Amino acid sequence: MFTQPDADKQATRFGTQAVHAGETKHKPYGALVMPIVQTSTYCFEDTAALVAHMRRKEDGLEPVRGEYGRYGNPTQEVVEHKIAALDGGEAALVFSSGMAALTATLLTFLSAGDHYILTEDCYRKTRQFSLEFMRRIGVSCSVVCLGDYEALEAAITPQTRLILAESPTNPYLRVADLSRIAAIARQHDILTLIDATFATPYNLRPLEYGIDLVAHSATKYLGGHNDLLAGVLVGDKERIHAVRELNNMMGAIADPHALYLLLRGLKTLSLRMARHNENGQRVAEFLETHPAVGRVWYPGLASHPDHAIAVQQMKGFGGVVSFEIAADMGGTSRFIDALTLPYMGPSLGGVESIVEQPALMSHFTLDEAERAAIGITSQLVRYSVGIEDADDIIADLAQALERVPCARQATTARRPCDSASASTGE
Ligand SMILES: Cc1ncc(COP(=O)(O)O)c(C=O)c1O
Repeated sequence: MFTQPDADKQATRFGTQAVHAGETKHKPYGALVMPIVQTSTYCFEDTAALVAHMRRKEDGLEPVRGEYGRYGNPTQEVVEHKIAALDGGEAALVFSSGMAALTATLLTFLSAGDHYILTEDCYRKTRQFSLEFMRRIGVSCSVVCLGDYEALEAAITPQTRLILAESPTNPYLRVADLSRIAAIARQHDILTLIDATFATPYNLRPLEYGIDLVAHSATKYLGGHNDLLAGVLVGDKERIHAVRELNNMMGAIADPHALYLLLRGLKTLSLRMARHNENGQRVAEFLETHPAVGRVWYPGLASHPDHAIAVQQMKGFGGVVSFEIAADMGGTSRFIDALTLPYMGPSLGGVESIVEQPALMSHFTLDEAERAAIGITSQLVRYSVGIEDADDIIADLAQALERVPCARQATTARRPCDSASASTGE
């Protein structure tokens, strides 16, 4: 702990918290903005100051100053207090990436012999880590369809310690019934972890539904400008402390400059998310009516399988819209190449629109059958709608859809949870 945030800023609304939560009015040097403290180590005036610092730590009290860069820095602390306030959690911990947040959490709470449940349709690296690495260290993982709560309960064994779900999921934007997951988990004394990267606390606050821990890739909407990598975990003080202890050893911490960018991005989170929500909805509605588009997945559409629960739980549905072009792999690529406005790349959640064909990006190393098994079709497009003017985004989509002669290709591939099943492998 470097500086105590001003208490009076904690009880305000989301937009105000995004700007002020976690901040002190009087910062070093009279600066309005938290200065970047570019140092790897912090020095002590004398031995008495060192011993006082160590005693505070030993007594479980928050130290009032820094010690070593791997244990945190002043900007990290402000970011952690701000995100904890936004998500309604007691504490937060920032990491060097979203994957660092997820992997450190799994490694903290799971040991050899334990089992956990991952819901289907999720970021590929989360799935790979669960099914490949965790198995190597003796932790087993079952993959269960998100939305099939009977299958979720049936997958629970006496060894099950944790349920991990994304909400909304990547890339089909499935939305979990969080109260239901929390109730099932409570009954079996199981920890719940929700990756709410696609929602951000602006749209969804899982802790309010009884979920224990929330993770975000802050690389996406929280940073919001496609210029940093970071991750965050939010929850109760005790569990966050346990993960911090492990991460202090693993060292997956964000550097002061990335944290400065994240802090700056967070201040406009509510403005940006309002725009992403508005643009996402408009783009999804446009695509749904276009004859060259097959199916569209966006929780704000009545046609989405989780529309009802999404409307109950979420304030808005974000900027990611997934859809299938009524064409084959080549036709879909030609459509993407004809787009002039979005960048083509693997990320999402920034002010700039980004588009990708998952079959050729995140799932390039899988063959068609392997992709089909996890629901990634050749004609799937994931469009992260930025904060540009929606009319321009739609005009660009319209011209690209017109220029590519799309022959309708019915796909028989099973999309995640089209039919309910539990599996234990990729
Ligand atoms: C839902 C989700 N969780 C986690 C991650 C990993 O985040 P990072 O790239 O910051 O490690 C991603 C990355 O795309 C993601 O989409």
